[in-house]
Amino acid sequence: MRFEKLRAVVSGGASGLGRAVTDRVLGADGRVVVLDVAREAGQALMSAAPERVLYVPTDVRVESEVDQALIRAREFLGRIDLAVACAGVIGAGRVLGREGPMPSEHFQRTIGINLIGTFHLVKAAANLMQAQEPNGEGERGVLVLTASVAAFEGQIGQAAYSASKGGVAGMTLPLAREFARLGIRVMTIAPGIFETAMVAGMTDEIRQSLASQIPFPQRLGRPDEYAALVRHIVENSMLNGTTIRLDGAIRMQPK
Ligand SMILES: NC(=O)c1ccc[n+]([C@@H]2O[C@H](COP(=O)([O-])OP(=O)(O)OC[C@H]3O[C@@H](n4cnc5c(N)ncnc54)[C@H](O)[C@@H]3O)[C@@H](O)[C@H]2O)c1
Repeated sequence: MRFEKLRAVVSGGASGLGRAVTDRVLGADGRVVVLDVAREAGQALMSAAPERVLYVPTDVRVESEVDQALIRAREFLGRIDLAVACAGVIGAGRVLGREGPMPSEHFQRTIGINLIGTFHLVKAAANLMQAQEPNGEGERGVLVLTASVAAFEGQIGQAAYSASKGGVAGMTLPLAREFARLGIRVMTIAPGIFETAMVAGMTDEIRQSLASQIPFPQRLGRPDEYAALVRHIVENSMLNGTTIRLDGAIRMQPK
């Protein structure tokens, strides 16, 4: 699928990796609908380019909000070529922490945003994509999900986060298989450590420890490197049904 003039929906598109995708789509003359809870950042994006960006305040945990947002997205965009699920939270915490065992609500919140929120977006986007005219190659749309290397080697304190991201990686193939007859591809990116607001919240010590674990390049990833892979996934129709690590060869240690 061509990336120029793409019509995209990005959850979590107001910050970090999602914002980089938003910028890249806009840079290629496309249009974007951003679903995010970050109202100020979302409004600012829309005010800067009102003909090309629509911000819809959306909590991805709420199915009806995502469904409504996707209907508004289709009205604004005409069709949806790409949906990228970037909304997420880090949800760190030990199961047996200093303040006692982790409350179930913490675990459920992390799963609710990272995994069920991703499912809501995928379902609503694919539902609209299936009614669209396919391109010359039979493609109706592309879905890109965001897991994490923590799906495969989560650290101590990442039980909830790893469970949520393992779920995202795990649903990639069955979704791709199910949507194959519709000409909708499904891919997941598992980033290593990227320079975003999520990581900015960590202490310098943790950030340095993480960066030093990356074999090469020994630095945190740049959000635009994530967006570059999203672009490649859109353009390369053979990519389907798998998770790509984007991580400088990091294999995270227990802590
Ligand atoms: N930064 C990293 O190193 C890294 C590594 C691996 C995976 N990831 C994943 O990448 C994705 C993007 O993270 P980021 O680093 O860009 O973080 P970020 O905090 O910069 O962006 C996340 C965005 O998601 C939005 N969001 C949070 N909860 C939401 C909700 N309930 N509904 C709608 N929007 C919501 C936030 O407002 C924010 O704009 C996340 O899924 C994260 O788990 C990030």
